[in-house]
Amino acid sequence: MAMFFELSEEQMEINRLARDFTNEEILPVASKYDEEEEFPVDVMDKLRECGLFNLAVPEIYGGPGVDKMTHSLIVEQIARGCAGIATSVEANSLASYPILVGASEELKKKYLHRITYEGQYASFALTEPGAGSDVAGLSTTAERKGDHYILNGDKCFITNASYANYFVVLAKEKGAENKFTAFIVDRDLDGVLIGKKEKKMGLRASNTASVTFEEVAVPVCNRIGNEGDGFKIFMKALSYARPMVGAQAVGIAQGAYDAALAYAKERKQFGKAISQFQSIQFMLADMSMNIEAARLLVHKAVYLLAKGKPSAVNSSYAKCFAADTAMEVASDAVQIFGGNGYIREYPAEKYLRDAKIMQIYEGTNQIQRVVIAKEILA
Ligand code: CAA
Repeated sequence: MAMFFELSEEQMEINRLARDFTNEEILPVASKYDEEEEFPVDVMDKLRECGLFNLAVPEIYGGPGVDKMTHSLIVEQIARGCAGIATSVEANSLASYPILVGASEELKKKYLHRITYEGQYASFALTEPGAGSDVAGLSTTAERKGDHYILNGDKCFITNASYANYFVVLAKEKGAENKFTAFIVDRDLDGVLIGKKEKKMGLRASNTASVTFEEVAVPVCNRIGNEGDGFKIFMKALSYARPMVGAQAVGIAQGAYDAALAYAKERKQFGKAISQFQSIQFMLADMSMNIEAARLLVHKAVYLLAKGKPSAVNSSYAKCFAADTAMEVASDAVQIFGGNGYIREYPAEKYLRDAKIMQIYEGTNQIQRVVIAKEILA
């Protein structure tokens, strides 16, 4: 089997574009959006203008049509600047996956065009107050009545919910044990209620809110796939999305490492730069080595996606390892910054706060290990 570790000219070009965008448009404002807990509408608009948005959407539906490797490179670059902004960008990708995986051509055109040509936002609505890791435990119900389904239930922790024009929702057939169906629910339908915005530890530029469906009448034509297909459609969607969470985590780790390396070269103690002490050098060496390993796992998972063979286990390896790496590297970055690492004037502590959610969302790292263990014991 041939293995290539080089990017194509085009991939390098887009990576440079994303890197420059991050350096010029994200890094200078990351701390402001974090501090003010404000959704960065202007940065989102600029990302759209530069073709760095709706990354999962193929060109035929108005997306940038980038390959999966390029998608991951862009996500890594944006997250290096601000993971809250990367998460906000990736919410549209996440909502696109169930549509791309299971929707009819008509639905794909209608709803993907809305996020690409019309500049709309979409949210992936899976998690509920009583169903986080245990997806099958969800209690939002769908009941068919003529040419509509009536949806009732609560979704929580929904990224971009306050801005979303539609929601991609997983619901359970009312009265049935294990029959899950996926729907696209327009925000302006009667009974769609957006809850309060959450105040978070990290990712504070991103918008997170709950959504309640109260007797919402969703047209049958907004069903994704067939009745009962929803669970697998959502699980497949997560297999596409998890490597990109891995890419976000690598971006956080890279950003924290870059900041720590620069600081270690500048900061003097005992008459020399702290980078000249072996204790700091070994920390930096481990950080750099683990980032490289995490990136390679992400690239392997992304390569499988690009081949049209999404692998749940490789997606879990990438997401889990990269998230753990981001946490370790960000923690070491704070350590290298010392007291300055603990105050908000310096960049290190934000990376640590942002890294933590990487181990939690899109399947906790415990759930990733469940997926891996199932595969190796099958
Ligand atoms: N691809 C295709 N099919 C899959 C699949 C995959 N990746 N994973 C499971 N399936 C199929 C199984 O093959 C099985 O099919 P059969 O019944 O035909 O055998 C069926 O789905 C049920 O699978 P399991 O028995 O494994 O289901 P389970 O109830 O034990 O759950 C789980 C599995 C891995 C724990 C799953 O519930 C899970 O991933 N939980 C984590 C939830 C999660 O990731 N939430 C993220 C929320 S979104 C978010 O965080 C985004 C954000 O805000 C930014």
